[in-house]
Order: sequence, then C-alpha cells, then structure tokens
Amino acid sequence: MRTVVCRQLGIELPIFAFTHCRDVVAAVSRAGGFGVLGAVGFSPEQLEVELKWIDEHVGDKPYGVDIVIPGKYEGMGEVDPKKLEEMLRALVPDEHRRFVKKILAEHGVPELPEDERPPELLGWTAATATPQIEIALRHPKVKLIANALGTPPGEVIEQIHAAGRQVAALCGSVKQAEAHKAAGIDIIIAQGTEGGGHTGEIASMVLWPQVIDAVAPTPVLAAGGIGSGRQIAAALAMGAAGVWTGSIWLTVREADVPPAQQDSLLAATSKDTVRSRSFTGKPCRMLRNDWTEAWEAPGAPKPLGMPLQFMVTSEAVVRGHHYADKAKDVQFNPVGQVVGMMKTVRSVKDVMYEMVQDFLEAGERLQALTADAGT
Ligand SMILES: Cc1cc2nc3c(=O)[nH]c(=O)nc-3n(C[C@H](O)[C@H](O)[C@H](O)COP(=O)(O)O)c2cc1C
Repeated sequence: MRTVVCRQLGIELPIFAFTHCRDVVAAVSRAGGFGVLGAVGFSPEQLEVELKWIDEHVGDKPYGVDIVIPGKYEGMGEVDPKKLEEMLRALVPDEHRRFVKKILAEHGVPELPEDERPPELLGWTAATATPQIEIALRHPKVKLIANALGTPPGEVIEQIHAAGRQVAALCGSVKQAEAHKAAGIDIIIAQGTEGGGHTGEIASMVLWPQVIDAVAPTPVLAAGGIGSGRQIAAALAMGAAGVWTGSIWLTVREADVPPAQQDSLLAATSKDTVRSRSFTGKPCRMLRNDWTEAWEAPGAPKPLGMPLQFMVTSEAVVRGHHYADKAKDVQFNPVGQVVGMMKTVRSVKDVMYEMVQDFLEAGERLQALTADAGT
C-alpha cells in the first residue's frame, strides 16, 4: 500500500481517518495510518488542549487537523469573530428558533442547564478558522491541514506552506478539484456523494477517476463510502494515492459517541441516510429521522445558509449529545451510506488490521485472475 503520500507524510499506510475524537486520531496514526482531527467544533483554547493531548499520545507519528473555510457563506469578509457573530445573530429569524424548540419539545428532549449553553458560531468561517490554523501550526507533529467546503484563501495556503506543512482540500466535482490544484493544494480529497457529512452529488465510483485524471500528478485521496480493504484496493486500482475515511470511525470503541447514538448507527442500513440542509445550511449526509423529515414537511421554514442555520440548531445538537437516549429520533447523525457496513463496535487497531487483510485478499483475487488469463 506504499504510495506517494506515505513518503510525503512519513506514514506506513495511506489510510486517512477524519474524526472529531482525539483518541481516534492518536490510535489511527499509531496504527500506521494518518489521523485527522476535525477542528470545527473547538474554540482555539479547546483545540490547543486536544492537540496537546494528541502530541502526548501519538508517539513520534504525524497527524493532521481539518478546518472549514467555505467558499461561500453568510457574513464572508468580516474577520473579527465577535463582530461576525453579532452581525449574524441579528439575521436569524425567530421563526426558525421557535421551530427548533417545538421539534425538541415534541420529542421530550430536556432543556440544557443555563450554564451549558453552546457557542452558536462554529469554526466554519475564515474568521473562526484562522485562529485554529495558528494553534495547529504550533504543533510540529501536525503535518497536514485539510480544508472542507472550498479552496482555502491563498494567504492561508502560503501560511501553512511557510510553516513547512502540507495542505489538503476536499472536493465533490472536477471543477472544484481543478480550482484546488490551481491554488497549489498538495493533496486533493475527492469525496463521493455517499460520504458522511457535507457532500456533493456525484458518486465515488464516477468522481474518483475523473478527479485523478484532471489533477495529475497531484495526489488524490479517495473518499466517500470506504469501510473495507477491498474498497481501498478499488480506489488504489483507479489511481488514488490513498483513502480518506470518516463514517467508519464513529462506531469504534475509542470514539466519543454516546452509546445510544452508536446504537442508531449500528442498526442503520445504507438506505437510511439523506442529504439534508437542516442542521448546517449546506447539504450534509446524515441518518434520516424525525428531525430531517420535519424540515421537509409542508409549512416548515426553509433552512438558512451556512453558518446561520447552525446558529439555530447548535442547541439541538448539544441537547442531543447530552440526552442521547431521549433525542434518538431528532439526533444529528452525520454519516455516509457505508453505515450499512458498520455492524459491530471494534477497536481502531482491529479496523486497521482488517482493512489491510481485506486489501491483501482483494489483491490476491486480482492476481489470480491475471494468472488464469495467462494459462
Ligand atoms: C460525523 C462526520 C463529520 C464530518 N465533519 C467534517 C468536517 O468537519 N470537515 C471535513 O472536512 N469533513 C467532514 N466530514 C467528512 C469526512 O471528512 C469524509 O470526507 C467523509 O466522512 C468520507 O466519507 P465516509 O463517511 O463514507 O467515509 C465529516 C464526516 C462525518 C461522518
């Protein structure tokens, strides 16, 4: 499985794991892959704590940090996080706040204690992501910064390169991939529509080879729908330099996902996901439930843009996390179609080991075919 990105980043296996959980980051990197911490939900101060913990638990292995600077969002151009939040709060209609309260009340999800109100504006603006980058670059084992939802601004790419680190960016179309390449992105992540979280409309099988050809020789990581070694073999056979995975790490033993939420994921099939704007304002793949259906129902308010919609729904996400047993039917469960393959809770080490075994078996199957052709 040694590919160009293994040499670029000093790793054994080109298996990248996106996760919001520091334990998973450290365990994946220790197992020879490359853990990437999703920073979007952390304040700069919290991010510093998480990265310090990873530094102490990852040994001498490298890891990455993922930030979100969307190509388009409400309030673009305002660089002061406090001013941006104030300005955005004024744009949130009461109707949306009332609608959220009603859905939660109808499902009996308790209110949060007064002192546990969540921040409303997450890291998905340039104003909020910039301090995260500064923190990440203070940690020498952070070898890669990835950006979601657009090509990062030129000065951000320069800043990361000047610190001797690499930049990756996600895309869901050839056009976006070409923009990344033109901006000087080092590693492009092509994510098919079946992936968890924010996704485009093109399936992995169709997207990956097109992006690989369009941006060559820039290395491409295949993302969206990967949960096994035979899928890794397929991606590498198409010319991908590695794989970028997300959903599969939600049901590992090390994941910081409440048991009730893990149960929903383990019980779901590949038919149970939907692309919905109802939590973040941009199409995001998640489990279909009463919440996603409520926003589709006649008379429901239209979801706001990013980051306004999450300013309305952040409370629902935190209440869902706190009271996971009660919030099962309205929980924010971002996950991809590969959820149908996630049937047991395993350790990170076991997932990595099984991926490698399955990859080798896939290679043997192909080799047997070519050997047969010669006889
Ligand atoms: C719970 C969850 C949250 C995600 N959040 C982010 C994010 O904040 N930033 C990002 O770049 N990608 C995010 N993604 C997408 C992943 O980086 C990755 O591209 C995707 O999970 C790959 O498809 P898969 O889920 O089929 O493995 C998220 C995915 C999941 C499942």
